[in-house]
Amino acid sequence: MSRAPADVHQLDPRAFREEVHSFEFWFQSVTGYLAGTCFGQHEGIPDEPLEPAERERLVTVLCNYCVGETAALEGASGLIAIAPDRLSKVFLATQVADEGRHLEVLLNRLAQLGVAEPEQEIERRASRSLLQFKRRLLSLVAGRDWEAALLAQNVILEAMEFTVFQHHARGADPRTRDVLQGIVKDERRHIGFGENELGRRIQAAPHIRARLREVKNELDHLVLETFEETLRQLGLAASDRPELGRHYLETVARLGFE
Ligand SMILES: [Fe+2]
Ligand SMILES: [Fe+2]
Repeated sequence: MSRAPADVHQLDPRAFREEVHSFEFWFQSVTGYLAGTCFGQHEGIPDEPLEPAERERLVTVLCNYCVGETAALEGASGLIAIAPDRLSKVFLATQVADEGRHLEVLLNRLAQLGVAEPEQEIERRASRSLLQFKRRLLSLVAGRDWEAALLAQNVILEAMEFTVFQHHARGADPRTRDVLQGIVKDERRHIGFGENELGRRIQAAPHIRARLREVKNELDHLVLETFEETLRQLGLAASDRPELGRHYLETVARLGFE
């Protein structure tokens, strides 16, 4: 029998993993906030007109979100092959579906904004630091380094996306806000998986923490540069930007990677 997602915190750790890593849990979760939407947008959300300069900046930001989502899509699918157990493989399969959906709804939003050739626009507008992050993530996956790749993807990349999308949604036009709010709910689940899996691994083998800290230190500057570029495009005052960088660092630090 199915269980309401809110009940899972009463389960013991093993039963909790079995529950939240399942397609059953995923399906109930996404149905709760995606039912009745079309490409992640609820019916009747107004199409607020944007000034040309504002539209231009939004297109650049959405193109970069597409780069991040493509990295997560390719990363999550590659991680299935090296995941150490079947529960993790099933969870990653749900994540692949989520990341594919994220890419799709962002491409749809770009089409609504009049972008006819999204691949060309993404190529033209992609941030160098984000592309470098993507290459590094995929090289960790190709190197079959489960812990480091999971840290890069389900903690670092997800923490960045979670922070930026949440912030952006607050000031965005209604359609973009609707799309981002749905994505953020999925990203929260992905971060939860990364924290749970790495937390257990570090507890069982504390020596891996030092190696993971090195990976984090290597990737932090790419994340913070990407933050800086995106937040500049979103028009956030320079004085407010460090706040979000700090929020990201705090999220990652919860695992002990200060
Ligand atoms: Fe995503
Ligand atoms: Fe994600």
